[in-house]
Amino acid sequence: MMLLLWQIGLLGILAPKILCLMMRYDGDQVLQIIPQTPEQVHQLQELCEAWPLDLWKPHLPESIYEKAKVHIRVPVSVLQQIKDSLLQNRIPFQVLIKNVKELWDSDTVRNPGKYQFSLSNYNYTRYHPMEDIYQWMNQIKEEYSHLVTQNYLGATYESRPMYFLKISQPSDKPKKIIWMDCGIHAREWISPSFCQWFVKEILKSYQSNPKLSKAIQNIDFYVLPVLNIDGYVYSWTTDRLWRKSRSPHDNGTCYGTDLNRNFNAQWCTVGADSFCSSEAFCGTSPDSEPETKAITSFIESQKSDILCYLSIHSFGQFILIPYGYSVQPASNHDELMKVAETATAALKEKHGTDFEVGPFSTVLYKASGTSQDWVYDLGINLSFTLELRDNGTFAFELPEDQIQSTCEETMAAVMTIIEYVDEKYFKNNAVTVTSSTLWLSILLSASRNTA
Ligand code: ARG
Ligand code: ZN
Repeated sequence: MMLLLWQIGLLGILAPKILCLMMRYDGDQVLQIIPQTPEQVHQLQELCEAWPLDLWKPHLPESIYEKAKVHIRVPVSVLQQIKDSLLQNRIPFQVLIKNVKELWDSDTVRNPGKYQFSLSNYNYTRYHPMEDIYQWMNQIKEEYSHLVTQNYLGATYESRPMYFLKISQPSDKPKKIIWMDCGIHAREWISPSFCQWFVKEILKSYQSNPKLSKAIQNIDFYVLPVLNIDGYVYSWTTDRLWRKSRSPHDNGTCYGTDLNRNFNAQWCTVGADSFCSSEAFCGTSPDSEPETKAITSFIESQKSDILCYLSIHSFGQFILIPYGYSVQPASNHDELMKVAETATAALKEKHGTDFEVGPFSTVLYKASGTSQDWVYDLGINLSFTLELRDNGTFAFELPEDQIQSTCEETMAAVMTIIEYVDEKYFKNNAVTVTSSTLWLSILLSASRNTA
């Protein structure tokens, strides 16, 4: 009886939320528009100012350029007017997504009934709500207690705990770190899925994969599966396409900061807005958000040990390098390009997916305050943003049947990066060196030191 009452109560709480989620975006379309002339750029910018359109690419009307693709979600309520206006102005467009709602209606939103959580049955090819991910972390650290610890980073605006998993093979040597975070942007669901996949794969293969078993003697992996937890929860309960965090601004008239504009890297100078209704709202000051502050304090405290920073996003199929805030090349631009190109080659080999490589500012758009640039300027000079699948067909709503192949190809890419880091910093530390290779490496390091 108690159980029944409880279940009815639970239904009562959940049902309106689900209804609310289901009602959003029905009939909305995503249009791809390529303005052909400066006038068309201008007309399109005016449309964006005048109507409640959701710019997906670029994020700001002023970043719309001639002959460059623009992706806009157009609410069904204004769809006809917008299309008429585009036709009138002879601005070419095509419908990229016919009905935004159907994309997740069909396979993503599940019946959130109670079920027994079990790590062995954890389905890595589905998207998981935050409660699952918390439980998953818990079980991973229990099951692999010899290797994994769960570490507290801080609390989100809505007081949810932020944990990262540290995968560390015990050793008496000092270790270095590769950091990976996922889910800075709430709606990019494939990103947390990849962080979980990554942890699973490392734990599955660290003994059998020779490159990995060598790397893991020198390098610990720190994985933050969901950085923007409040936003992620909100994208499950209320608004599938939510991007930002959930802190209120301007007396609660608008919510959320774009956490990837909130870092102290030429903060709020380009590709970011200072008004809170913007999708690229930079916050009230660098690090103004508790989520950002938690990351930056931690990374700062570990900066001399972090060799490589990886931030996972979607979509676009890019590996991005600094800078976002400037088109000026990073000081080790060539090295970064080489690492990214090797990674994309390995990625493509897996399922044929094409990725593009280059500075954030030229490949995607100019953006100040990104984590990648902040980390880089702190002195961690292997700093990458990965924009996973797809190219805009499903955009943020990548269907679950692509989770596996996306994670497999991304894993292949990340493995080459791990290998590079290990080679670069621990070349001479191979554990089982024969005497001749030992001599060779001593000679090599001597010659390098005198060069
Ligand atoms: N994850 C990136 C961001 O949120 C890119 C999203 C849009 N990508 C695109 N190709 N339109 O800033
Ligand atoms: Zn993103």
